[in-house]
Amino acid sequence: MRLSAFALTAALVRTASSAVLENFQVTQPAILPSGVKQCTVEVLRRDFASSYGHAEVVELIPPTDCGPLGSWSAITLNLTVTSNGTQYDRLGVFTFQNVEIWRTSTPEPTRGDGIRWTYVKDVTKYLPLFEKPGTFIFQLDNIIQEGLDGVYSTVVGATYYASSEKHPTAAKADLIIPLSTLANDTGNDAAVPPGFSLNVTLPTNTIKVFAELYASGNSQEEFWYLNAPNDYLEELPDGTTYGQGPFREVRLLVDGRLSGVAFPYAVLFTGGIIPSFWRPIAAYGALDLPTYFIDVTPFASLLADGNPHNFTIDVASAENDHAILGNWFVSGALYVVLDTSPKPTTGGITVYEADPYASSSVSRTDTGDVAFTVSAERTIHIEATVISGSGETTTVVWTQNLSYENKQTFDANATVQTMRQTASGTTKSTHNGKSALSDVFEYPLDIDFTYENENLTSWTSSLNHTYDRALLPSPLQIENKIHNEQGVVGFFEIRTGGNLGNGTSNNSFTYGDVLGNTYSRTVNAALNNITFDEESGSLAGDIDKELQADRMAGGGDEGIQARLPGRGEVS
Ligand SMILES: *[C@@H]1O[C@H](CO)[C@@H](O)[C@H](O)[C@H]1NC(C)=O
Ligand SMILES: *[C@@H]1O[C@H](CO)[C@@H](O)[C@H](O)[C@H]1NC(C)=O
Ligand SMILES: *[C@@H]1O[C@H](CO)[C@@H](O)[C@H](O)[C@H]1NC(C)=O
Ligand SMILES: *[C@@H]1O[C@H](CO)[C@@H](O)[C@H](O)[C@H]1NC(C)=O
Ligand SMILES: *[C@@H]1O[C@H](CO)[C@@H](O)[C@H](O)[C@H]1NC(C)=O
Ligand SMILES: *[C@@H]1O[C@H](CO)[C@@H](O)[C@H](O)[C@H]1NC(C)=O
Ligand SMILES: *[C@@H]1O[C@H](CO)[C@@H](O)[C@H](O)[C@H]1NC(C)=O
Ligand SMILES: *[C@@H]1O[C@H](CO)[C@@H](O)[C@H](O)[C@H]1NC(C)=O
Ligand SMILES: *[C@@H]1O[C@H](CO)[C@@H](O)[C@H](O)[C@H]1NC(C)=O
Ligand SMILES: *[C@@H]1O[C@H](CO)[C@@H](O)[C@H](O)[C@H]1NC(C)=O
Ligand SMILES: *[C@@H]1O[C@H](CO)[C@@H](O)[C@H](O)[C@H]1NC(C)=O
Ligand SMILES: *[C@@H]1O[C@H](CO)[C@@H](O)[C@H](O)[C@H]1NC(C)=O
Repeated sequence: MRLSAFALTAALVRTASSAVLENFQVTQPAILPSGVKQCTVEVLRRDFASSYGHAEVVELIPPTDCGPLGSWSAITLNLTVTSNGTQYDRLGVFTFQNVEIWRTSTPEPTRGDGIRWTYVKDVTKYLPLFEKPGTFIFQLDNIIQEGLDGVYSTVVGATYYASSEKHPTAAKADLIIPLSTLANDTGNDAAVPPGFSLNVTLPTNTIKVFAELYASGNSQEEFWYLNAPNDYLEELPDGTTYGQGPFREVRLLVDGRLSGVAFPYAVLFTGGIIPSFWRPIAAYGALDLPTYFIDVTPFASLLADGNPHNFTIDVASAENDHAILGNWFVSGALYVVLDTSPKPTTGGITVYEADPYASSSVSRTDTGDVAFTVSAERTIHIEATVISGSGETTTVVWTQNLSYENKQTFDANATVQTMRQTASGTTKSTHNGKSALSDVFEYPLDIDFTYENENLTSWTSSLNHTYDRALLPSPLQIENKIHNEQGVVGFFEIRTGGNLGNGTSNNSFTYGDVLGNTYSRTVNAALNNITFDEESGSLAGDIDKELQADRMAGGGDEGIQARLPGRGEVS
């Protein structure tokens, strides 16, 4: 895939589908209490047109008629969007009380009747933020220009579920502290490199700290997994891909000391490689990007000293300088648990085995004209004693054992390309032997890509993408297991007068959790039409027949915009 004479591909106004195309990402339905009072408020309503740098900023005031403030059993956000025209996928960042609470992206619209999607996001874990009025920001940087006329018309609602005997107030942190830019007029994520740092002062009776990190690659880092090691770039035709290699790890440091990392899942946005892959079924994570969790509790006694401490989030590569290109958007939050006693927490780290960077290697393989394998591994082992003011001693053991491999081949002057990547690992923390946080994951991603003509104006591709994760984010949330597999094949052609594409997509999703909730869905599409859709499990409802009928009425993909590595936005 390469940066070539792609020029500006203005898309024509065409009449395509004859009914609204209903887009979606496969996921489990939000797990919500039944038989309790619900209070729904409209948070914002906005047409995102030329909205670059102009986020929607509103005051969100909690309802008072669903029980005392903060007594809710659940909270959800409902994002509903319509769009009609030609437009790129755009990143959306929701920030409340300076904490990023949801990162999403937009499906690319169709012309004519356009598209629509609704996503209901469970934000119950952010309950402490919702207890009081605060600034709610939705940043959706959209651009209207020649050939790009798609406006994202957006409604966001929040629903608060009252608690009851059967559905008590949700478990919550005592405090949620942002690791963010703290801006009050735009999304609170920071662009790295360089690393983002913030001084944070925690209460002196802090006994547990769990970090949640948001991180996604954009611009030159959108297809980070297809980047080549710098040593190999010269052998590839100019503009084939970017450098700094394909490995990325998201790091969290406390006062310059590594506290934990994430080997991120590759999120493919809906313009990625072949937009028709993702129409109407977006890649897993595209509408609700996964986040990563780190137990920072080993640092609790240090953090409880009453002084500011320097938290850093950065993203490192496996190149010698560990540098990356521009850019990744990162932010985070600390979920803090306090002791019942106001007396200060004491203790200290007893074992600290954590290298600043993963150990990695790059090797040439003989499987193609240009071919290489990049591998990385890392283990982290930190132990600490945390003595609360009320006298309880907790032994904390935090370990991560992660591995990564990326194999790429380039043949026929790099017009035929393959990539096989997998990131996997086990992350675990115990507090006095009891599981506190656990993350066992495997994220394979395979891509085949072939240019169909010497002008590099048309290509075919096949891609298999798996998200397999058993996750206990912290003792404040429940443990669940998600397995999603998505296989897509498609074709794309750049044409003056309107790009053309087609694609088929097969998806199978399963969800299960420790409360016994289950959900599975198999859904396939061909040429924008849903060809098979079946769901089962305790969370399954009736698939909305009307929406299903809408989804059946697809058509060819005309006037669409693709994104490729090395090219960023190609309009
Ligand atoms: C989400 O909001 C849309 C638009 O306001 C509404 O039509 C839809 O019923 C809502 N869905 C849920 C599950 O709340
Ligand atoms: C979509 O936009 C086109 C032209 O921009 C317009 O003619 C058409 O009525 C719109 N469709 C809907 C459903 O709003
Ligand atoms: C936003 O932040 C700026 C700079 O810190 C400050 O001057 C301004 O008053 C703030 N606005 C609001 C609404 O809080
Ligand atoms: C915070 O730590 C980072 C990484 O070690 C360092 O680059 C930065 O200068 C530190 N910032 C402050 C304010 O101490
Ligand atoms: C962070 O706190 C340290 C003291 O702990 C101070 O020296 C430094 O200037 C602070 N940095 C910022 C950016 O506030
Ligand atoms: C890390 O995981 C690998 C693969 O599962 C295993 O072989 C290795 O022993 C583990 N290392 C540690 C330190 O647990
Ligand atoms: C290889 O691809 C590059 C970039 O597209 C092109 O300039 C060059 O002519 C090609 N070489 C051959 C031998 O086809
Ligand atoms: C994806 O899986 C399908 C079915 O097993 C296979 O035919 C195809 O070659 C795979 N594609 C890639 C890129 O691995
Ligand atoms: C490639 O481009 C040349 C020059 O613009 C054109 O003559 C030729 O038809 C194109 N070939 C293909 C296969 O599109
Ligand atoms: C999807 O499944 C169908 C039926 O099993 C199969 O014919 C098709 O090749 C699959 N498509 C992809 C992209 O895996
Ligand atoms: C997609 O378009 C290509 C090129 O016209 C064609 O060869 C292929 O059969 C089409 N795929 C489907 C599933 O219709
Ligand atoms: C998709 O649906 C449209 C409208 O119902 C129909 O014309 C078209 O043939 C369908 N395509 C496929 C591949 O089923």
